[in-house]
Amino acid sequence: MARRRMLVTGGSGYLGDWIVRLARDDWDVSATYRTHPPTSAVPGVAWYRLDVRDEAAVRALLQKVRPAALVHTAALNPGMGPVDDLDAVNVGGPRHVSRAAAAVGARLIHVSTDVLFDGTQGNYAEAEAPSPVTPYGRSKAGAEEAVQNAVAQMDVEAVIVRTSLIYGWRPRRDRQSRWVVDDVKAGKRVRLFTDEYRCPVWVESLAAAVVELAGMAYTGVLHVAGAQALSRYDFGLRLLRFYGVAPDAIAAHVVPSLAAEAEHIRPLDCTLDCFRARSLLETPLPGVDVVLGGRSFLEKTG
Ligand SMILES: NC(=O)c1ccc[n+]([C@@H]2O[C@H](COP(=O)([O-])OP(=O)(O)OC[C@H]3O[C@@H](n4cnc5c(N)ncnc54)[C@H](OP(=O)(O)O)[C@@H]3O)[C@@H](O)[C@H]2O)c1
Repeated sequence: MARRRMLVTGGSGYLGDWIVRLARDDWDVSATYRTHPPTSAVPGVAWYRLDVRDEAAVRALLQKVRPAALVHTAALNPGMGPVDDLDAVNVGGPRHVSRAAAAVGARLIHVSTDVLFDGTQGNYAEAEAPSPVTPYGRSKAGAEEAVQNAVAQMDVEAVIVRTSLIYGWRPRRDRQSRWVVDDVKAGKRVRLFTDEYRCPVWVESLAAAVVELAGMAYTGVLHVAGAQALSRYDFGLRLLRFYGVAPDAIAAHVVPSLAAEAEHIRPLDCTLDCFRARSLLETPLPGVDVVLGGRSFLEKTG
């Protein structure tokens, strides 16, 4: 029997790469990139170059692939491109993708973020209204609105997965780990916020949860993040120890800071209540200490 088809936008990204790898067991996978053609050999995946700002191109690709599930991870993360492009990519992209999904009857899994909340409350549940305070947060709130409009007007079957800081070490380290660890090792001062809280999520468990959701009937918003709430400072210290950075280098170069000292406004407590995801999914969503604990430096680099 022919396997169901999945299309992953942003397959060249950190999360998209893992979704592609894990989905191949059960799905016939196609994936897209924009500027970084895939370098790692993931066999059996059909790759397409796509700019999600181009609605006609999105529609044409969906008509060609006709996926049963469309996982939309492609986005501009903070600092990854001009602020002027945020709305075109992060709002226009989901608008085009959700309309195209409706046209071919694909189930849509859209990846969203915890920073569409203002961070004044913490432990946000799915029913809380978005209250973004940053340009990126506003663009991702606009993305959710675009998806919700397609659900209301075009009857798309959609899940919005709100997640938190994504980390991992294979096949490469995530951006935040690279920045913190490499700068401290290079003797640079690194400011880490002690009053900014998130629920960091291991890329491999998040990707497994997304693939599981693609094969389920659940629709609506779902908070999918790690089980442990940590400040940026405490998360950073755990990463530094995990990557074997010497305690004296940590003491010398890590500067505990308050978010109010940052150049731009930052939401403080964007922790997510993931009770619904834990009840619904078989995929475990462990916290940082469980994920990093027990893995020696040699195991993870070997
Ligand atoms: N990273 C986090 O900590 C975090 C936290 C919460 C939510 N999220 C959300 O999770 C998702 C995945 O994040 P990530 O960290 O894995 O992202 P990432 O590594 O920065 O990858 C972004 C992906 O989007 C693609 N892309 C960018 N602009 C595009 C465009 N105009 N058209 C088509 N594709 C485009 C990139 O393609 P090329 O590289 O080939 O150009 C890449 O594949 C995003 O939706 C993000 O908002 C991330």
